[in-house]
Amino acid sequence: MRIQDKVIVISGGASGLGLATARYLIEERGARVAILDLNDEAGERALAEFGAAKAVYLRCDVSQAESVAQALDAVLERFGAIHVCINCAAILGPSKVLGRDGRATPLERFAQMTAVNLNGVFNVMSQCAERMAKNEPEAGEERGVVINIASGAAFEGQIGQCAYAASKAGVIGLNMPAARELGALGIRVNAIAPGLFLTPMAAQMDEKIIAGLKEQIEAPKRLGDMREFAHCCAFIIENAYLNAETIRLDAASRLRAR
Ligand SMILES: NC(=O)c1ccc[n+]([C@@H]2O[C@H](COP(=O)([O-])OP(=O)(O)OC[C@H]3O[C@@H](n4cnc5c(N)ncnc54)[C@H](O)[C@@H]3O)[C@@H](O)[C@H]2O)c1
Repeated sequence: MRIQDKVIVISGGASGLGLATARYLIEERGARVAILDLNDEAGERALAEFGAAKAVYLRCDVSQAESVAQALDAVLERFGAIHVCINCAAILGPSKVLGRDGRATPLERFAQMTAVNLNGVFNVMSQCAERMAKNEPEAGEERGVVINIASGAAFEGQIGQCAYAASKAGVIGLNMPAARELGALGIRVNAIAPGLFLTPMAAQMDEKIIAGLKEQIEAPKRLGDMREFAHCCAFIIENAYLNAETIRLDAASRLRAR
């Protein structure tokens, strides 16, 4: 799908990888972007940077069906269509099977993370797909593109990453059934599993943990540049033959147990 003038919904687009992708797709590829996020201050800052002709910020909780429906209706009202959906919204936090006292981790802690990181992805993807299905197909075959953001933790989750890793593995599990089902409508579904990029989310981690993660980056031996992530999104949008794939964008890093 060509990017110029397309309408791209980015959940979690007020910060980090989502924000960098919005910047790249607007400034260098001529897209229009709808940022769905809970961080009003960052969302308004992004809107001031990009301008109202090219961007809209909508407060939205991806874990709530009604909140997403309202935001996507507002995108349609503002820009007339939705062509691409990039699901970046997620939360990070520790979760082991057992606590220090040997007791089972409260189920709510696990469920809170999957509600945003997995249910939220399904919620935004499904509601975008419903609206994309009404688009005229481009080049006779493409009505929409979905990009869901997983993580290297989906493959090699570290100790303490139970909920985060499971939610991200769930995102990868969505790829194939969703791509098979939505293929009939001309909608592709792919995922990116990033390695370490220094965003506000990653900065929440202890310095020692970040240093340990850096050691496990193979080549090139550095953190990811957020423009490299944005460029990967653009590649997925533009390559009509790429479907149901998970791209590991991680300089060949493989996480150890801790
Ligand atoms: N930064 C990394 O190194 C890294 C590595 C692997 C995977 N990822 C994944 O990449 C994606 C982007 O991460 P990031 O590092 O840019 O994070 P970030 O914290 O900078 O941005 C995430 C955004 O999601 C928003 N958000 C959180 N909960 C929300 C909700 N319920 N509804 C709407 N918005 C919500 C936050 O307000 C924030 O603006 C995430 O899915 C993350 O898991 C990041």
